[in-house]
Formats: sequence, structure tokens, C-alpha cells
Amino acid sequence: MTPRTTADIRKAYLDFYASKGHAIIPGASLVPENDPTVLFTTAGMHPLVPYLMGQAHPMGKTVCNVQLCVRTQDIDEVGDASHLTMFEMLGRWSMGDYFKEGAITMSYEFMTSVLGIPKEKFAVTCFEGDSDAPRDDESAAIWKKVGVPEERVGFLPKAKNWWGPAGQTGPCGPDTEMFYWVGPTTPDGLRGVDSKPQGNPATHDAEWLEIGNDVLIQYDKQADGSFAPLKQKNLDEGLGLERLACVLQGVGSVYDTDAFRPMLEAVFAKTKKSEADATRDARIIVDHFKAASFIIADGVRPGNVDQGYVLRRLIRRAIRSARKLEIQELGGFSAYMASVVRAQYGDFYTQLETKKSVIEETLNREEEAFMKTLAEGTKHFQKIAEKSSTQIAGIDAFHLYDTYGFPIEMTKEMAAESGKTIDEAGFTKAFEEHQALSRAGAEKKFAGGLADHGGETTKLHTATHLLNAALKKVLGDHVNQKGSNITAERLRFDFNHPDKMTPEQIKKVEDLVNDAIKADAPISYSVMTVDEAKAAGAIGVFGDKYGDKVKVYTMGSFSKEICGGPHVAKTGMLGSFKIQKEESSSSGVRRIKAVVSGGPKEVEVAVEAA
Ligand code: ALA
Repeated sequence: MTPRTTADIRKAYLDFYASKGHAIIPGASLVPENDPTVLFTTAGMHPLVPYLMGQAHPMGKTVCNVQLCVRTQDIDEVGDASHLTMFEMLGRWSMGDYFKEGAITMSYEFMTSVLGIPKEKFAVTCFEGDSDAPRDDESAAIWKKVGVPEERVGFLPKAKNWWGPAGQTGPCGPDTEMFYWVGPTTPDGLRGVDSKPQGNPATHDAEWLEIGNDVLIQYDKQADGSFAPLKQKNLDEGLGLERLACVLQGVGSVYDTDAFRPMLEAVFAKTKKSEADATRDARIIVDHFKAASFIIADGVRPGNVDQGYVLRRLIRRAIRSARKLEIQELGGFSAYMASVVRAQYGDFYTQLETKKSVIEETLNREEEAFMKTLAEGTKHFQKIAEKSSTQIAGIDAFHLYDTYGFPIEMTKEMAAESGKTIDEAGFTKAFEEHQALSRAGAEKKFAGGLADHGGETTKLHTATHLLNAALKKVLGDHVNQKGSNITAERLRFDFNHPDKMTPEQIKKVEDLVNDAIKADAPISYSVMTVDEAKAAGAIGVFGDKYGDKVKVYTMGSFSKEICGGPHVAKTGMLGSFKIQKEESSSSGVRRIKAVVSGGPKEVEVAVEAA
């Protein structure tokens, strides 16, 4: 039986690549660990950057998984037939093992034999070449050899057939993409019109839908924009699960697949509007509450910056849509939607079950807060309406949007009710100015480059282990890491502890770390199972985020901890350690910011124990 349901396709992918010798590894958190340059995990390769750069992965050179990904740039598009805030990426990696030949032959076998995609509806594109890298004739020849006809192989420039880096620097390379013939598309993005397949995406772009991407990672983009060759050649494959389900189920929209349809029905059941009138808002509600549930499960809470702000926007936009559908049960609707999402995904994603209460409570609190803002915003609107004769100024409409979360359509409707119009051009201008500002903020976020593994971050990462061990000694064994975020300038370490640290405790922790540095202890790692690591006394967050095998880093007698690395080869390379700040992070969680200084600029990296 060829797999058709979302769950079956997911399983078929993992089973197939396990049968080809790939270790199945768990998906990573949506909030990148140790990577301050992006807000959310946007691709399965993201947490694997150190291994693509040459570190040894504890599970071996070939691995696969399912990774939840959030791409925030599309949030405002959600509501049409194709956009999603969060999607599931089926991913596989060869980290210095096979390259183009293995990548392409296995992709083809999975697509045609396992999924049963008809040969005439399958096409690929390859990189056409430029001054950075040559035309990828090699991949094209392999596709033809396995059975893809010449007319289904297209060549496209870098804008299309190149992937990464995910930030501004890091692993990247030419890619070869896989497509399914969907035929002409309606203006809403709906597909499924029956038609005869023609050409390939280079000749018939709109009619072919991308369903997979094999990135042939062999470069490391530098801060100056140049492409340095990578030590090892890697494959980074990503397949969009929802899109695969969509084409294999022959439906016109990802929202009509087996996973999404029941969630939409749950919304339709709560509104008196017709399905046609409710579809757009129902999609927003389903997509946003799904993403919000998973983001909360990974530890984010609504706030005004970074991940917290994205989460807040998702919840509020979904509530606005619920109001538009005149759903009566507001004040509990969010938690209801969380249960709908959980019913659909809880089997595979057990965090939805284990974090059930915190997801529901967080959503309900934000819903209440927003309802209050809406009430205040309505009062503010009335004041504005009174002072405006026939037209509401653009800047006022923008203020309602920005401060009270009023979408422009809502303000327009309210204005019309009191016989007024709004200056939409003025609104757009204010909106664009604001976007330019927030874009500038986003670019600053990326400026450090993805998971920069330069000397300074390697030192700070190493210092984090010593800090963790010292905190346990000084404050007690209850201390566990709750988060870590490292830039080239400082480390930030979150841990559970009920009280503010005293100046004496801070000094003691600092001294212990500096003693470990002065001892110039050797650092190395060993690969072992999670159980062996526990038995060896290694610390680490023993959640479900590890694979079967892990790397345990030992730093003399000072620290033994599960980690991916990299770390410096000797503690002395850290120079000296200083805590700059100790503060509250959230309830029961403290945050330390610290720096190292005086170590060598170039550092050696710790290797596997002999
Ligand atoms: N990293 C690749 C992508 O996101 C697979 O398409």
C-alpha cells in the first residue's frame, strides 16, 4: 500500500531511510539552542550546523528525522490555500558520507517506488552555475541515469537553485529540487485541475509544485560574502510533509489534507457563517493555534520581543478571526482549539500531551488580555471617530493597529458604521515605515551569522559547562540548565533556582570556574548511549531530545556533560571568566550573563577521547 495519510507518509520516510542505514534522530526544539541569530528553527539542518561543519555526530554520518519548522515571513499570507506558519520537514543528512549519487538515487526511489509518484508528474531542477560555483551537470546526469526524462530536467540560477546559509554565514550550496505536476492554479492558490504534464519548472514554473530539496552542501559562506569550500561534503534533504500529503491525496490545498480538514471542521462547527465565507478565517485560526501550541510547548510565553512577540501576534490574529466568525465562546476558545490540535498531533508529538495544561493556560490568559485591549481600543476608536469629520487619518488607523491590534479591515468596518472612511494610503505609508523599522531589527538579529562556531563562541560554550557544574556545587544539585544563548561577546545561561544569588555565591561560582581554567584541564568527548551517560554521572537535560547515542564531554574532574560541541581542547584556553549579571528570567528561573577574556584568539577544538 502506498502511504497517503500524513501520518503514513511521515512513517514511510523514516522507515525507508532507516532501512538505508540512516539513524533516526529526534527533532530539535523550535527555539534554537545556542543560536541567537534566528528566532525559530526554520529547517531541519539548523541544529545540525556543527556536524555539517565537521564535528562528528554521535549517531553517525547518515541520519534522518522530522523537524517542526516555523517561518515567520509568511504569517501575513496565511489564509490562502497554501501558506502555513509551521510545517513539518522530513529531513535526511549525509555528513561527509555519500554525496550526489547517493542523494539522488535514494530520493528518486522514495518518490517513485515508496510514494508511487507517476514518472510523468515528476520533474527536477539543477543549478545552472555562476561565478561562485559551476553548473551542476553531475546531478542532472544522475537524475537522467535513474530514469528522469531529459525534458523533466531544468536548470535555474542561484535565486532558485541554491540553498542557505540559513543566517548570513554558514553551510550552503547548490541544490537540486523535486517537483510534482499540479497544473494551472486558481487565484486563491487552489490546485488539482486535471491536465497533461508539460516541460519542467524552468519552462512551466507555475504548474510545478516543489515537494523536495536536496541541498548539496559544500560551501561555508563567509562574513565578507565569499564562499569557502567546506572540509566535508554533505547532503541536506528537506521534504515538505504537508505538501506531499496534499499532492498524494489529490486535494487543492494543504488545508484540505487529512490532517487539517478535521481541525477546520471544528471551527466551522462553531460559526453560523457559511463554509465559503468562513474559510479564510478558519485557516488562520487553525494554522495560528497549531503553531502557538507547539511554540508554547517549547517554552515560549507571549511577550513584546522576539519569540514571545511572534507568539502574541499569532494568538491575537487568530482571536480576531474568531471574532469575525462571531464565534460565541470566546473566553475558552483558545484552549478548545489547543485540544483540537492535540487530537490531531498528540500521538506523534507527545509534548502536546505532556504540556497540555501550560499550553491551555497560556492561551487562555493571552485571549483574556487581548479581549481587554480590544475593549480599550474600541473606546479609543470612538474618540478618534468623534474628532474626524468624514475621514479617519492614516496615522490614527495605524495607531489602532499597532497599539490595540486592530486590523485595518476592522477599523474600516467600524468607520463605515459611523458613516466615515479611512485614509488607506496614509495607513499604508505608516505601516511601511514601521515595517522598515522592524526589518532593520530583524536584520540585526541575523548579523552574527547562523550558529557562528568561531573561537569566541567555542570558548563561551565551553565556559557554560564549567558554569553549570559550579552552580550545582554552590547552589545545590537541583540546578538544571533551562536555556543557553551564546554570541561572540557573551554567554547567557538560564537555570532553575528559587532565589536571587547572593554576592558571595556569585563570587564562589566565579572562583570555581576560574580554578578549573587555571588547572588547564584537558577536554575530550566519548560517544555512548543515554543510559551509559547517566551511569557515568554526566549531566544533561534527559528529555526526549536526544538520539540513542550522545556525546559526553569531560573537562578534567570539573565537568561531565552531554553536548554536541564544539569545545576548546583545554580549559586554560578560556583565559579568565567573569559573571556580569545575575537576574530573574522567569518565575523560578535565574539568568546569568558572563564573559571570558584573555585566552588565545585561535583555539584548538576538543577531540574524541583515545
Ligand atoms: N534546508 C533545505 C530546505 O530548507 C533542505 O529546503
